[in-house]
Amino acid sequence: MLQDKIKQYSEEINQFTPTSAADVEQFRLKFLVSKGLVKALFDEFKSVGPEEKRTLGKVLNEFKQLAEQKFSEAQAQFSGTSDTQSKKEGDLTLPGEGFQLGSRHPLSLARKEIVEIFKKLGFVVSEGPEIEDDWHNFSALNFPPEHPARDMQDTFFVEKKEGNDIALRTHTSSVQVRLMEMGQPPFRAIMPGRVYRNEAISARAHCFFHQVEGLYVDENVSFADLKQTLFHFVQELYGEGTKVRFRPSYFPFTEPSAEMDISCTICKGEGCQLCKYSGWVEILGCGMVDPNVLENCGIDSKKYSGFAFGMGIERITNLKYEIRDLRLFSENDVKFLSQFETEII
Ligand code: DAH
Repeated sequence: MLQDKIKQYSEEINQFTPTSAADVEQFRLKFLVSKGLVKALFDEFKSVGPEEKRTLGKVLNEFKQLAEQKFSEAQAQFSGTSDTQSKKEGDLTLPGEGFQLGSRHPLSLARKEIVEIFKKLGFVVSEGPEIEDDWHNFSALNFPPEHPARDMQDTFFVEKKEGNDIALRTHTSSVQVRLMEMGQPPFRAIMPGRVYRNEAISARAHCFFHQVEGLYVDENVSFADLKQTLFHFVQELYGEGTKVRFRPSYFPFTEPSAEMDISCTICKGEGCQLCKYSGWVEILGCGMVDPNVLENCGIDSKKYSGFAFGMGIERITNLKYEIRDLRLFSENDVKFLSQFETEII
């Protein structure tokens, strides 16, 4: 009997307590779609007698309203969690939602800027593999066999091989070796890339980061060329008037070696938290390519000399954008990333 059915389904609807958007959708499919129960009962209604029609018509309409009301309440409860019917039937005259443009990663922006400056000085871009052997990462670069940087602590080893371990490169200096092995001077190259070190991740250290290596080898290249090239680079990158200073240092692959500081880009040398109130921040290591390295790569160190330098792109980026936590670079947080330049192609 139609009346009994209406009663039974009304009870079911009253007891319906959805716990998910999927339940709401099930409800819609059961009662409200064109092959659903509400429609079926209306069809059945057509064939009842005139007497019954009068009483049942009202009951049936109330039943329909009950189902619809229950559905819209349930839908409101879970709105946003599923593509519900009303959304599908949304107002087609409303303007579209548009799409969000991506932005360049700050590290890519910094790398691009560094590369552009050196390109204008005649440097070409060169790249090498991230999985490297001991020869290119260490031995050819004049690291003595017992040098602490070869220690398991710093290096991620991929494979232990007699005399030539395979590891993730710990610096882009390995690309210098690959480049020089391929031919004879002059070499004038800039080598950006990702490097890996076995470090605990914190705001100030990461197990992977990015470097740019530079190499200039020719006849009669001197330390004066090194200083002038890097001085020019800093003026271009951080603006005219940025001061530089060189401090003696040690790297196995350069002799003499130096570290270069620039006047703090944040406080302009006055002293702030970033420069630890010294007015200076270190940005790169550099030096004259050690003759041993040239010879290891088949280059006559009596005829040729050169300079090399290496800098961390994260460091350069932090100074430009005042980013204080290295982890931000690899977390893919859109709120962070969308603050940077949007590239319209
Ligand atoms: N490879 C060094 C590092 O990762 C950086 C470096 C220092 C590169 C001096 C050079 C250089 O080419 O001459 O710390």
